[in-house]
Amino acid sequence: MAQPLIITDAASMRAWTRHERQQGHSVGLVPTMGALHEGHLTLAREAAVDCDRVIVSVFVNPTQFGPGEDYDAYPRTLDSDSKKLAVTGAVDVIFAPSEAEIYPLGANLTWVTVDQIGDHLCGSSRPGHFRGVTTIVARLFAICEPDVAVFGLKDAQQFFILKRMTAEMGFAVTLKGVPTVREGDGLAMSSRNRYLSPEERSAAPILYAALQEARDQIVERGVRDSVTIVAEVRELLGTEPLCRIDYVQLVDTQTLQPLHNLASGSKVLLASAAFFGSARLIDNAIVDVP
Ligand code: PAJ
Repeated sequence: MAQPLIITDAASMRAWTRHERQQGHSVGLVPTMGALHEGHLTLAREAAVDCDRVIVSVFVNPTQFGPGEDYDAYPRTLDSDSKKLAVTGAVDVIFAPSEAEIYPLGANLTWVTVDQIGDHLCGSSRPGHFRGVTTIVARLFAICEPDVAVFGLKDAQQFFILKRMTAEMGFAVTLKGVPTVREGDGLAMSSRNRYLSPEERSAAPILYAALQEARDQIVERGVRDSVTIVAEVRELLGTEPLCRIDYVQLVDTQTLQPLHNLASGSKVLLASAAFFGSARLIDNAIVDVP
């Protein structure tokens, strides 16, 4: 299996993309923070469906972690990541820059922020998080110059914010969202699942089960009142002593504003975050209201 080329500096990365484009090849980018699992590998394969060449970036971005979050503990596993990417056969380049390559002038002064839709859900529990995400992704777009960038819908709010940023900044890149890849018991794959103790790991699938229950309420039983739906999810999560709810909300997929009544024919995002021990896990369901 051909090992992907590892590029660590911005100038070489940009030169590589420009060379590929001169050859008539389209270029896809999959931004990640490493500690890769099957969810990330699925994004890489999806990028290869749309593009002739695929870059996977691996960078644990300090500016999207808040004080007291897991920046230091976040797993850094470039060797095993590159082996996993080689096995997919879908990836040409791993872009693994140092912090100095991405933030070349030290403390960062230039930010990309998306107002309003970044303030809800994870934005209110993790102040400054999305500003770090939009800034790093804008910088990766500027360095890698991809035609297509692929993201997971597990982080649905992140995806909707990045879509807004791309449209408003005029980046010449098409964003592709890929459905959440799950373990056999429904738990969304996440680099943070490795923080779970065996007991917490057994408890964690309740997050998915509760969202499925809410989807059934909307789709099968015609419930349209968001207070009732959110209360049901909270009640179910409340039955698991190892689960501590951060938020459960039903929001509009465009504005991410909380909804009261669900309109027939609309698309809604049921989003949740919960702690199992020290691990903060998120999951969501995008539901077409019948
Ligand atoms: P990270 O958490 O490493 O995720 C990288 C990409 O993989 C994101 O687009 C995320 O939504 C996707 N992903 C993670 N778990 C998934 C799953 N189970 N199924 C499908 N896709 C999944 O998200 C980030 O990194 C960072 O914020 C980043 C965008 C790289 C900016 O630093």
